[in-house]
Amino acid sequence: MLIKEINEIRKVIKEWKKEGLTVGYVPTMGFLHEGHKSLIKRAVKENDRVIVSVFVNPTQFGPNEDYDSYPRDINKDLKLCEKTGANIVFNPNPDEMYFDNRSTTVSVSGLTNVLCGLKRPGHFDGVCLVVSKFFNIITPDRAYFGQKDAQQVAVIKRMVRDLSIDIEIVTCPIIREEDGLAKSSRNTYLSEEERKAALILSKSLLKAKEKLEKGERNPQIVKSIIKDLINSEPLAKIDYVELVDDDSLENIEYIDKNILIAIAVYIGKTRLIDNFTFNIKKRMVF
Ligand code: PAJ
Repeated sequence: MLIKEINEIRKVIKEWKKEGLTVGYVPTMGFLHEGHKSLIKRAVKENDRVIVSVFVNPTQFGPNEDYDSYPRDINKDLKLCEKTGANIVFNPNPDEMYFDNRSTTVSVSGLTNVLCGLKRPGHFDGVCLVVSKFFNIITPDRAYFGQKDAQQVAVIKRMVRDLSIDIEIVTCPIIREEDGLAKSSRNTYLSEEERKAALILSKSLLKAKEKLEKGERNPQIVKSIIKDLINSEPLAKIDYVELVDDDSLENIEYIDKNILIAIAVYIGKTRLIDNFTFNIKKRMVF
């Protein structure tokens, strides 16, 4: 079922809650693929009812970013959601979500000064604003996010903790194409040649992983392995390659705890991100 108005979705959720049903929520910007589908599937498994929001959120795009050209296909999204077992697709118009004279911001500091937050000023304020609004509208028991956007997960978890929001945040693993490229709505921007070049993201991360598994503990060396490999691909331009503490997202001098290796790379004009976490304890067990 497609719902476009806040009042209408609130009514449905109220009824569900009266019946004691649990609600799972998957926030998306649409143009859904297997990555989104994995979140919806998990939500369907763990909750009585599932809501997927499809909303290309204007406040999280910078002035020179791809808000206007971001791919949209609500009919295809509706079908995927229905097939996967979601009960409602919430697809509000921007003027349903935002007042022209809105004056409230939701800002998580610290965690947002690094990685994508540093490169996309204001991006996470937009994400936090829209996600907290959706949380207030939908009041789910659980909300599902992909590890694909590792910094987003860390920021949302911090926001939920700091604001005492009573929602469990569930993180789901990255879904990849067969050759390793992380699935993304933005992959549709890639030409055939760029699509091949984009493999350099997952390849470079894999190489770094191998090094870590062999015992490398110097972050600078791990970073330069990734950078060298990406720089060997003529169509790729590094935006950032970072190795940080996977909780605080702070830089580290030596790898003796769980880390997040996160990269952002331009393939032609398209900016792609990828990451992996290296669990030091697991490594020590095996
Ligand atoms: P969007 O990019 O549409 O992603 C929606 C959710 O799907 C995010 O939690 C993202 O991490 C997850 N996702 C995307 N690709 C994935 C993949 N390959 N594997 C696993 N999960 C994947 O992220 C956003 O939208 C927005 O910022 C949003 C949270 C909806 C706020 O506007």
